[in-house]
Amino acid sequence: MEQGKKTILSGIQPSGDLTLGSYLGALKSWVELSEEYNCYYMLADLHSITVRQVPADLRRRTLTQVAVYVAAGLDPEKNVLFVQSHVPAHAELAWVLNCYTMFGELSRMTQFKDKSAKNAENINAGLFTYPVLMAADILLYQADLVPVGADQKQHVEICRDIATRFNGIYGDVFRLPEPFIPRSGARIMSLTSPEHKMSKSDTDPNGCVYLLDKPEDIMRKFKKAVTDSDTERCVHYDPAAKPGVANLMTIYSVATGKSLDEIEAEFSGLGYGAFKPRVGEAVVELFRPIREETDRLLQDKAYLEGICRAGAEKASCAAERTLRKVYKKVGFAAR
Ligand code: TRP
Repeated sequence: MEQGKKTILSGIQPSGDLTLGSYLGALKSWVELSEEYNCYYMLADLHSITVRQVPADLRRRTLTQVAVYVAAGLDPEKNVLFVQSHVPAHAELAWVLNCYTMFGELSRMTQFKDKSAKNAENINAGLFTYPVLMAADILLYQADLVPVGADQKQHVEICRDIATRFNGIYGDVFRLPEPFIPRSGARIMSLTSPEHKMSKSDTDPNGCVYLLDKPEDIMRKFKKAVTDSDTERCVHYDPAAKPGVANLMTIYSVATGKSLDEIEAEFSGLGYGAFKPRVGEAVVELFRPIREETDRLLQDKAYLEGICRAGAEKASCAAERTLRKVYKKVGFAAR
């Protein structure tokens, strides 16, 4: 790791295939940040099992997600790409931090309330302590910045609270991280219900565009995207009145680099029939090289496993340093 550079940590759960939302909201900005920062990019598989997974699917998606990270432009030499379960310090620090996190604090987390409502038959303790594991992820690397979507901001805040409490008792052990919501980290909404975030665990496959979707599937989903019944059918940015159109404009803007004004001008007088397939084409072209490179990388499992092994080794080295300090501070006997 280069001296003088700030440290970033972020992660995505391999709990579903990566989507347009994962790419525009996270991966794309991760690539942009990787020049300027020391970056740790994780596959949060420990977090994934808070919701029941099919084991073979989880394993397959994990390796595929590593391939996508690399194909999307994350150079495994410049970034530490690793699988969370490969670095035991995450689970170990999470246990310690559990003892410095209050029941009441965790009960107030909005994601816990949402997920318990959605998984009423499996409200397990892991779902409850999820933010503590996430705090461990961040604090182990003494991260300065944590790029996350707006929905994860509360988790970075509780991480700061836990770190502040721990530091208050034992001195400066943890650096306090800042949430970092990338500008290009636009919130991409579902194509069929634009009032909801596009989610990889979405139940409506038409609402969600996957990074590895075939071009014809991408085109079909965009042609079917919900717009509105505005009789003018005019491409105009108004998220409150026309959330579907605004979402498509955001996608087109991030995919092409054009501003919203330029997009309004480009489609003035053309209506949605012309607009929707153009957005689809832009996304097809954006994803084509990533999909082709992912397919190529997936042919070479040994290479991908090598990336994970090297990443876990580098990550462990940094994580162990923090964990040893914590163990000493809380009074565990030397090993
Ligand atoms: N909870 C995050 C999500 O679902 C994933 C995650 C796990 C994460 N650990 C992290 C993100 C640490 C940032 C930092 O999106």
